[in-house]
Amino acid sequence: MQLFKQFTKINLFHDIQSFATTVKIDEKDFILATKSVFEKHLRVLNLPAHIIFRSDYGHSEPTDIMTDALIEDFRKTDCKRIIAIGGGSVIDMAKVLMLKSEGNTEDIFLRRVPIIKEHQLIAVPTTCGAGSEVSSVSIVSLTRKSTKVGLADDAITPDYAALIPDLLTDMPYNIFVTSAIDALIHAIESFVCPKANRYTDLFSEEATRTIVKGFSSIRAEGKEARYRLFEDFLIASNMAGIAFANAGTGAVHAMSYPLSTKYGVTHGEACYQMFTAVFQEYQQQKPKGKIQRIILLLADILNCETAEVFFKLEELLQNIIPRQPLREYGMKEEEIEEFADNVIELQERLLSQSYVRFSRETMCRIYRALF
Ligand SMILES: [Fe+2]
Repeated sequence: MQLFKQFTKINLFHDIQSFATTVKIDEKDFILATKSVFEKHLRVLNLPAHIIFRSDYGHSEPTDIMTDALIEDFRKTDCKRIIAIGGGSVIDMAKVLMLKSEGNTEDIFLRRVPIIKEHQLIAVPTTCGAGSEVSSVSIVSLTRKSTKVGLADDAITPDYAALIPDLLTDMPYNIFVTSAIDALIHAIESFVCPKANRYTDLFSEEATRTIVKGFSSIRAEGKEARYRLFEDFLIASNMAGIAFANAGTGAVHAMSYPLSTKYGVTHGEACYQMFTAVFQEYQQQKPKGKIQRIILLLADILNCETAEVFFKLEELLQNIIPRQPLREYGMKEEEIEEFADNVIELQERLLSQSYVRFSRETMCRIYRALF
């Protein structure tokens, strides 16, 4: 039984120049970047690499149409190494380029072609959520199937992650918060996954502690407090990424995908909608188990009684950024069952590793309560 693996070298840099010098960027490098971050922080460096922007392929979360176009552009170059500078979606898209040139996105994600690594990937996260820089997972929407699917394979694990807190400074407040909530969910969901163990628990607990304390500081001091906390949040999201890369995530993520796919809700925001409702259900269905330990930890950080942990956590998060009913995103009541069926059909990987395996009825009840 494998307990833990961590292939990616993790480095912290206090400026982009020292990163560029350390990894020796040259003309055989293919940079996929978020345009605004590149223009502000990297343009001035006059890098000799082949540079393209994520926005050239679209503004939504990654789809197979976008990654097919990216693959085509990459295959026209003779680049050997990929450098992804952006949020989780940029890094997820870049992971597809690491593979030997065969097939299109659908072939790759449905494993109709062999998944073989050919190129190195350096991942530079510019948000503090996805943890994609250390995970072996890439998530893409398959447009013909109308859902997001995940490819989980060691072949798409980044070789090198560069953590540069300075790059987080341009994130709009709501992106910062929803990406940090995504990281918190990675930490807490992975902690209660059946594959969690003492190694992954270390990362889950430390990430949970850092993020909840960080949010408490922001609630007490105001939004501006985040600027001094970026390094903490970036490292916490990386640790949460290591935890979920080893232990997995569960029903919160599974249930978020139909909302993201159908209504274009960003990943962190969609997960936020499901978070405390799913954990309250976990607690009701299986109160004795690993969930008791995360409740104790949260009660300690939030300085509250164990019985009110998820209520207090929801209150803290709502204070940082308000959550809204699912109908506000355009979801219709008759889609509740459709969403549950979609999860059962396409998110078996996540449902099977959840703390409690949810039935169709349970998922419908949760969607209805959040509607
Ligand atoms: Fe996530």
